[in-house]
Amino acid sequence: LKLEMFVDELPDMPKIKGYYAANGVVKPKKLEIGMFEKKWKFHRDLPPTPVFAFGTSSLTASVPGPTIEALHGIDTYVTWQNHLPPNHILPIDPTIPTAMPSNKKGVPTVVHLHGGIDEPESDGYAKSWFTAGFEEKGPTWTNETYHYHNMQQPGNTWYHDHTMGLTRVNLLAGLIGAYILRHPDVEAPLRLPSGDVFDRPLFVFDRNFLTNGSIYMNSTGNNPSIHPQWQPEYFGDVIVVNGKAWPRMTVRRRKYRFRIINASNARFFRFFFTNGLRFIHVGSDSAYLGKPVVTNDTVLAPAEIADVVIDFSESTSDVAILANDAPYPYPAGNPVNDANGKVMKFIILKNRETDPWRVPEKLIEYPSADLSAASTTRYIAMYEYTSNTGKPTHLLINAKTLEDPVTETPKVGTSEVWEVINLTGDNHPLHIHLGLFKTLDQTELVNLDEFTACMNKINDAIKCNLSKHAGGKKLAVPVHEQGWKNVYKIAPGYVTRILVRFSYVHANASYPFDATAEPGYVYHCHILDHEDNIMMRPLKLIK
Ligand code: C2O
Ligand code: CU
Repeated sequence: LKLEMFVDELPDMPKIKGYYAANGVVKPKKLEIGMFEKKWKFHRDLPPTPVFAFGTSSLTASVPGPTIEALHGIDTYVTWQNHLPPNHILPIDPTIPTAMPSNKKGVPTVVHLHGGIDEPESDGYAKSWFTAGFEEKGPTWTNETYHYHNMQQPGNTWYHDHTMGLTRVNLLAGLIGAYILRHPDVEAPLRLPSGDVFDRPLFVFDRNFLTNGSIYMNSTGNNPSIHPQWQPEYFGDVIVVNGKAWPRMTVRRRKYRFRIINASNARFFRFFFTNGLRFIHVGSDSAYLGKPVVTNDTVLAPAEIADVVIDFSESTSDVAILANDAPYPYPAGNPVNDANGKVMKFIILKNRETDPWRVPEKLIEYPSADLSAASTTRYIAMYEYTSNTGKPTHLLINAKTLEDPVTETPKVGTSEVWEVINLTGDNHPLHIHLGLFKTLDQTELVNLDEFTACMNKINDAIKCNLSKHAGGKKLAVPVHEQGWKNVYKIAPGYVTRILVRFSYVHANASYPFDATAEPGYVYHCHILDHEDNIMMRPLKLIK
């Protein structure tokens, strides 16, 4: 299947406001957003593709779903409604821990606001799933309507399915959307590019398609005697932006702001422009940077966000291809090819324009990582388990699954240091719900085989002498990734130290909800095929 590149225009997703104004007063809004099976046109020459899509109706549902725009300090309520059919459109694998309605009918879903700082009952716990019409519910399900407080710092979050054992197929089918939290008092004075034309989310993901238009996912596992369908990583050759394969966008010769979200299951991107245009980073996952940072390329793991300004007035050509050269799996896998090495094309108009937008020297400053305030150090080890055929069967964190008793129990209002140890050959993007974190450093582990053997035996980083092994090279944390984030790339064979805050980063205040409530939160690898099997652990806050 060969599709011509750059023939479809980059779409904008529908917008929904998470608030409304009455007599000049801004008020909380209650939204109803459904999940529908429908057909979506990914490319001019590709027949319509069966997808699962978010929207306010089946007609307007889109892939990605509507962009929700929320206002700081104004609550948004969403009743997520499942209208999905009895069976999945992609191969599921019942041998991994999977949400199973007892009548075996209906695709279970539950929605997580990724980067949102909200109560556990509204966080989309993996076992709080429900089927169409709320007919069947998972064991931790509590409420139909989710409450988003919007009290956190302004920035970029996104919503997506988070169902036990089905996240990889539910996202692959299309259940994603952007959620932008705006705080005009703080953001307007920055005078960054804004408005529908100059400020846009770019949702990037990879897919494979069959000639009939269907999404292709290998339905034979890499280790079929153990997992008949599960594959350790999904990769596709077609790069899709805002629901179109390799789209194009005509831009004026001035600044634009793009909120680039990597919504792939497993693919990392290293983005760059073929004509040397640069990325001016102003923010990342859910928070602004203190100062803008200019780079020539930018690496995004699954679920990471780069909030960048691109100044097309600096372009020396009339065309710029946004390209990718990240190996897959990352960082030591296959090199990119002609297809997955291209993302989209910008056609830059000739006329230079006066540009009212700017990139100020100072953005939004949040507290720096205060190590002395950290109350606890935790050791988080990532393992890969293989069968005697040598192929991966599953991946775990601290040799435990989601079902094992909770071990990460931070106190509300505290900070902690997590030393995240990667004993596998691949980079794993770690995502923590609720807490924002700063990456402090990444240090190579020396005598890795000895350390891994010890960890495999006793799973105790201190007894296995982590401090002695953490003596190798340092991997620099790029400046634009030194801010507060909710996902970071955990390099293979390294220990990555992060400082996690379980309080608001911007206000040093506690949460306006009970963060200690059931069912708690989770943290996990955001390679969805890993998260499902079963690189995810509970996270339970205590008073
Ligand atoms: Cu983006 Cu726990 O997920
Ligand atoms: Cu992983």
